[in-house]
Amino acid sequence: MAISIDKNNTLFKIDTAQSSYILKIMPDGLVAHVYYGSWVDSADVSYLLRFVSRSFSGNPEGHFLDKAYSQDTLPQELGTYGVGDYRPDSLRIQLPNGAQACNFYYRSHRVFQGKPPLEGLPATYGEDAQTLALTLWDKVSQVECTLFYSVIAGYDAIIRSMQVKNGSDDTVYLNRALSCSMDFDHSDFDLITLRGRWGGERQLVRNPLHPGIQSVESTRGTSSHHYNPFLCLCDHQATETTGDCYGFSLVYSGNFLGQVEQTQLSNTRLVLGIHDSGFSWQLAPGDTFTAPEVVMVFSDQGLGHLSHTYHGLYRQHLCRGPYRDTPRPVLLNNWEATYFDFTREKILSLATKARDVGVELLVLDDGWFGKRNDDTSSLGDWVVNEEKLSGSLGALTADINALGLKMGLWFEPEMVSEDSDLYRAHPDWCLQIPGRYKQTSRCQLVLDFSRREVQDAIYDQLCAVLDGANIEYVKWDMNRHLTDVWSATLPANQQGEVAHRYVLGVYSLLDRLLNRYPHILWEGCSGGGGRFDPGMLYYTPQIWTSDNTDAIDRLTIQEGTSLVYPPSTMSAHVSACPNHQTHRSTPLETRGAVAFTGSFGYELDLGALSPEELDTIAQQIARYKHLRHLFATGVYHRLRSPQSGKDAAWCYVSQGKQQVHFTYIQIHKVANSPLVRVRLQGLDEGLQYKDEATGAIYSGRVLHCIGLCIPVLQGDAQAYTVVLQATTKR
Ligand code: GLA
Repeated sequence: MAISIDKNNTLFKIDTAQSSYILKIMPDGLVAHVYYGSWVDSADVSYLLRFVSRSFSGNPEGHFLDKAYSQDTLPQELGTYGVGDYRPDSLRIQLPNGAQACNFYYRSHRVFQGKPPLEGLPATYGEDAQTLALTLWDKVSQVECTLFYSVIAGYDAIIRSMQVKNGSDDTVYLNRALSCSMDFDHSDFDLITLRGRWGGERQLVRNPLHPGIQSVESTRGTSSHHYNPFLCLCDHQATETTGDCYGFSLVYSGNFLGQVEQTQLSNTRLVLGIHDSGFSWQLAPGDTFTAPEVVMVFSDQGLGHLSHTYHGLYRQHLCRGPYRDTPRPVLLNNWEATYFDFTREKILSLATKARDVGVELLVLDDGWFGKRNDDTSSLGDWVVNEEKLSGSLGALTADINALGLKMGLWFEPEMVSEDSDLYRAHPDWCLQIPGRYKQTSRCQLVLDFSRREVQDAIYDQLCAVLDGANIEYVKWDMNRHLTDVWSATLPANQQGEVAHRYVLGVYSLLDRLLNRYPHILWEGCSGGGGRFDPGMLYYTPQIWTSDNTDAIDRLTIQEGTSLVYPPSTMSAHVSACPNHQTHRSTPLETRGAVAFTGSFGYELDLGALSPEELDTIAQQIARYKHLRHLFATGVYHRLRSPQSGKDAAWCYVSQGKQQVHFTYIQIHKVANSPLVRVRLQGLDEGLQYKDEATGAIYSGRVLHCIGLCIPVLQGDAQAYTVVLQATTKR
């Protein structure tokens, strides 16, 4: 049993194979957090709760003389606002009298098989799961709060979420409702976060925790290029293979806040959930609010095991649809080949060349609809531009299909251009604040997806296009952030709900489309990787990792992304050189080796390449097809970090450890350079592996302990790859 409870119903223990999580109902009913870390064989570790009287730490009801018992210092499962817990709180409830304090005490609990879905929200799923639901109660507000803890068999992860129910006869407001709160009795941690910018998303940032609050957050309406909804606390000495690491990953795509405080007493409090900035949610009597879930992963074997747990869980228990378990088609996207400037002839010529080199899917990107020939118009008018396509989309798709390729299409459903029929007909359908200038970004406005009629109108338009042609892939883009967040249909006291309702609207529309077109491969995108989060992965099993396709810049982007997200979810393309974002030139082989890390494709004008280059691409694609099952399902090991600026290395090991793909990239060449040797990870030490190219044989143990010697490579941005095949089976 993953969840066990002592006979007095006070100690709750949640176990995974290698971790334990223990909480305790205190005699007064407050819920204390006792322990989270390596698996222990006993729940009876409450000696960890040490009570010392501290000045300026108040005492709750029933503890007038018990000065050592304080919510200021007690590690808690739910820290709330206004009752003497001054660390970052998870819950603030405003009552009719204006007070925002709340205080929750144990009321009941339930343990059951399975993991319930979260209404309207993306969530991990698994049949072999168990859940603890702990219901707490605030007697003054009469609000009930249920904390859920789920485990899915086979994963060192505990999944938390929270539901708040108004049990009173008055309307109350949630002014802060974060999903997860976690206390540690020390602060000897490094904090790892993923920070970035457009074109440089999810760079791994690691710093020792310091006194005070450190945070990651987005108030941009999406999870953003700038911060990812993920935090990791790890030992200062933790490496890829050693040390304790705790990951916290929020399954949500909108505004979020993650805070970590190293407290006055050198404890740690971490909270993560929907950002409270601008947030307020009305709860009428009987109403329930569901906060998105946080997937907590513990590893006592370093960051590698942490990533592997997230990869397995997100690939098999978050992503859905037929492409969850199927390698993705090799695609050619026309964006960097043509931008807006294409004709039917050009697309067909690209498709023919693509077919010749082995591409399986042609993606027609921006510019096929309305009057869109640049980024100033037509978003919201999802009507095929038959003049530009010299005929219907159905006919073009039939021609592409006749070449043996699948057809894919770009949409940006959440947006509207002022120069569009949709905007002219419904100027109030975009987010805007009366009396204020509506800020444009990339010349466009954001549709008010909190409104069902707006979602419906876009749904109908998208269905009309998807019903008219054999579209088997959709790229769902989102090319600006939210401003002027206000909705024309909500009353003043509910305007604090718009940002979250917007996200729920996006999820709802995606759900409807996924149900109607279950065969389509959906790819998420937001100006590259501006919405690369677990929430979107529930709908789109792959996401365009970055608009920056430069092979060298991609190394750190893909490294950071791989900390949480499975390689199969990272879309990675070979593009032209000089690169359109950095103007750097890198060898075609290197671009291919780096893009092999993810769901693979091309984004360049094949017509502008030499026969030799086309030949190289054909070989690259054949090789990818040969290995893609390994890339899609194998275990990904980071071996050398590109953050050194010198080199990078990683390998994939198949689930049965029979096949290995190793990649080394020399970023920067120096004269008279030292010789390099890289040790591998994840192999079976008892097996013999053969280098497919040279025939050399190594034992798994030799590859772990000694590794592969890298030949001397000349020049910057050079790639060296090795495929190893086990010569025997275990
Ligand atoms: C965004 C995407 C690109 C491309 C353009 C089209 O920037 O990230 O890949 O689709 O939009 O306008």
